[in-house]
Amino acid sequence: MVITAKPRVAALLVQNSVLNMLFRMANLFDTRRYLTNFDAVHTSHIVTDCLVIGSGVAGARAAVEAANYCHVILLCKGAFTDSNTSFAQGGIAVAKGDPASFETHFEDTMRVGCGLNDPQAVRTLVEEGPSRIAELIEWGIEFDREAGELAYGLEGGHSVHRIVHAHGDETGRELTRILARRVRGTRRLRVFEHCFLIDLLTDDGRCLGAVTYHEEFGHQLIWAKQTVLATGGCGQIWRESTNPPITTGDGLAAAIRAGAILRDMEMMQFHPTTLYVAGAGRALISEAVRGEGAYLIDREGNRFMLGKHHDAELAPRDVVSRAIHEHLAATHSNCAYLDVRHIPNFATRFPGITRLCADFQIDVHRDLIPVRPSAHYLVGGVEVELNGQSSVDRLFCCGEVASNGVHGANRLASNSLLEGLVFGKIVGESAGRLADGARTVPEIAALSSHIADSLRTPLDIVDVNNSLRSLMTRNVGVVRSGERLTETAEILDFWGHYTLDKTFDSPSGWELQNKLTVAKACAASALARTESIGVHFRSDADSHGSASLYHTQIARDFAEAQRVTKPPPFVKGGSRGVN
Ligand code: SIN
Repeated sequence: MVITAKPRVAALLVQNSVLNMLFRMANLFDTRRYLTNFDAVHTSHIVTDCLVIGSGVAGARAAVEAANYCHVILLCKGAFTDSNTSFAQGGIAVAKGDPASFETHFEDTMRVGCGLNDPQAVRTLVEEGPSRIAELIEWGIEFDREAGELAYGLEGGHSVHRIVHAHGDETGRELTRILARRVRGTRRLRVFEHCFLIDLLTDDGRCLGAVTYHEEFGHQLIWAKQTVLATGGCGQIWRESTNPPITTGDGLAAAIRAGAILRDMEMMQFHPTTLYVAGAGRALISEAVRGEGAYLIDREGNRFMLGKHHDAELAPRDVVSRAIHEHLAATHSNCAYLDVRHIPNFATRFPGITRLCADFQIDVHRDLIPVRPSAHYLVGGVEVELNGQSSVDRLFCCGEVASNGVHGANRLASNSLLEGLVFGKIVGESAGRLADGARTVPEIAALSSHIADSLRTPLDIVDVNNSLRSLMTRNVGVVRSGERLTETAEILDFWGHYTLDKTFDSPSGWELQNKLTVAKACAASALARTESIGVHFRSDADSHGSASLYHTQIARDFAEAQRVTKPPPFVKGGSRGVN
């Protein structure tokens, strides 16, 4: 090849390509290790054996279990009851206990998950499920019954009725009530409410606890022999989400900063039917409503799911969400409608939804319910083994924050509460046993963080938040493309330069930094997965429906999201689904 460029131009070209290379090789998360300033000399210390962070179903169940082995602190961001779990409506999916029921629950979970699931994790979920439900009944939960027997509901993606529920559509509230009672009555288990997780403390690749913030007590260092992260998902990074305001991805972002590997972060599941009324938030209209026979119609009254899938309204969630998204675009509409007017006893079966609609002048016996898809459940998360161990020593995870392989590329409806119960127990036992160090105290390190605020100008946190949520909804929503994802990554980098370098001294600033970090992980992972599978749909993919099976992974010191080939294909009827 003849080089024709003049020496200076050639030098510039070389310089540019070196810069490009360096740029490409820079870490994806060039953020500081800790969000806040602290030092081990001037901060209050608390010690425990096992620290569980998050009071949803997984955290509460893990804490109760761990307390069988050691002293436990359960950290709650708000009050104990302020978790995503309390908002669950549909119920808890569970096999009835006979071999055929295990097999169909296993198959439905694998099919909806597009085979990206870990068959062993799914087996554990379905086979341990009935014992966890029996345990809840023993603890006093009031599940709905018909003629004395448990009443089982149906939701999308399920081939049979297998969803137990409480007070109609208030399963989450009843489950939280029972777990709260159990937690409060458990010896050696202390509950710290209104305690914000700022960061996980690490030293030499081991997790040693957490630095936290309490409005009254300020910063605290909680040292623990084992730490369990059960902080839930990150729905609040999208403008439309069923998740409560506390769901800002704090645990996910803290795990990234602590060096953990996160997996399949592009997999956000959108719930097809959330209430689309200004001022109502995006309250869930449970899938169980379609399970009881509700129709999904457009403004002309057409049941548009009929031509889209043989299960029509009860197709898996990703299919229904995409169908609504496409139909709204094609018909230039803002929302679809649920028609429940023909369902007898609707108000008795779904008292919460009936009340919610009435609050907005919607009479379910007479009116249609306007709905749209919203961000609902993070299928990806911190990569963990079956016992919940993450890639960081002494850090375990369970529930929505974890990616243990149960959900594959799409979560089967109502499998998440069951997952929290089953894996909460397993993880609590693993962490509790390891932390059971009799009279030994946890390791304490001379850790400190001193950071200078590189941005003196006040930042309009609400404005960055709104911009972030709009960007994610527009570009990392139900349908994605390489072009839009690249644009998103660039915008997030730009906002990150001045927002992530700022030093905040209260939760709203830390939450914003966490949201930006997690959004970046989602966008980068979505960019790396160029094919469509499950909840991740790329309009620019070469093919849909025959994607090869791999996971995406992301971590603090990766240059970009990477793919790792994975799991053995699911074989229907195989002993563990592995051939
Ligand atoms: C619903 O009731 O539709 C939500 C249940 C779930 O997300 O599993």
